[in-house]
Amino acid sequence: MKELRDRVAVVTGAGSGIGRALAERFAAEGMRVVVADVDEARARETEALLKGRGARTLAVQVDVQQAAAVEALAARTLEAFGAVHVLCNNAGIAGVARASWEVSLEGWEQVLGVNLWGVVHGIRTFVPIMLQQGTEGHVVNTASMAGLMSLPLLSPYHATKFAVVTISESLHMELGMTGAPVRVSVLCPGFVRTNIGQDSLNDPRSGPGGGVRRRRDPRRALLGVQPPRAGGGGAAAGRVDRRRPQPGSDAAS
Ligand SMILES: NC(=O)c1ccc[n+]([C@@H]2O[C@H](COP(=O)([O-])OP(=O)(O)OC[C@H]3O[C@@H](n4cnc5c(N)ncnc54)[C@H](O)[C@@H]3O)[C@@H](O)[C@H]2O)c1
Repeated sequence: MKELRDRVAVVTGAGSGIGRALAERFAAEGMRVVVADVDEARARETEALLKGRGARTLAVQVDVQQAAAVEALAARTLEAFGAVHVLCNNAGIAGVARASWEVSLEGWEQVLGVNLWGVVHGIRTFVPIMLQQGTEGHVVNTASMAGLMSLPLLSPYHATKFAVVTISESLHMELGMTGAPVRVSVLCPGFVRTNIGQDSLNDPRSGPGGGVRRRRDPRRALLGVQPPRAGGGGAAAGRVDRRRPQPGSDAAS
């Protein structure tokens, strides 16, 4: 999609980090932006930020784990802006850093609920709308380098991100088979300084002396990487048909 002005973007998890950076960029391109987040205060903060720059934007509180909530998000989007051209399935959580067998059932369900089902609900709800519109569309799924290589202590997170990569690849092929002008990208950032680590620390499932706090950030300890800030150009996007990088190489080319 070359022309972005006046098009409509929906970004989940846009109250913080990478999602907010995406929303800011879309607004700067003259797009109308729906800022969706489970944390309403954060969504409103992003909305105020964009409005302050003259953008047309709408904050919507949504829990992407719930299919009905994502359908309501689509309804609000169409009601406010009449169409949707770009969907960023970006909301995500890291979960608690523990060995696979130590992660509670609730911990597994929470990470799968947001990172995997959130993407599934986004695709099932918004792709039919894009196809019906018959206009150009683009689905951007935020996976991670964690969807291309495995490290210890975050296996629910890795499981969801590997799933998001393969779902994106399938979706890309399926849409290609329809001939519709709807494209797919999968975003595979390396480490970016956002609230994702802090939110894991604040999660009661981390437990006393458990979670990320006890072990610090295991990925950083393993790779010795200092993450850039969201919006600082550190996150790299990869089209679904690009070559997979080898473990240890940069996020995408
Ligand atoms: N920060 C990194 O190093 C990094 C690296 C690779 C991939 N990612 C991915 O980038 C995406 C964005 O993460 P971030 O680093 O910007 O984190 P972040 O915590 O700064 O932002 C995530 C946002 O998602 C929202 N959210 C959480 N659960 C939600 C739900 N159920 N429904 C709707 N919104 C929800 C949060 O409230 C938050 O505002 C995630 O999918 C994450 O896995 C992050």
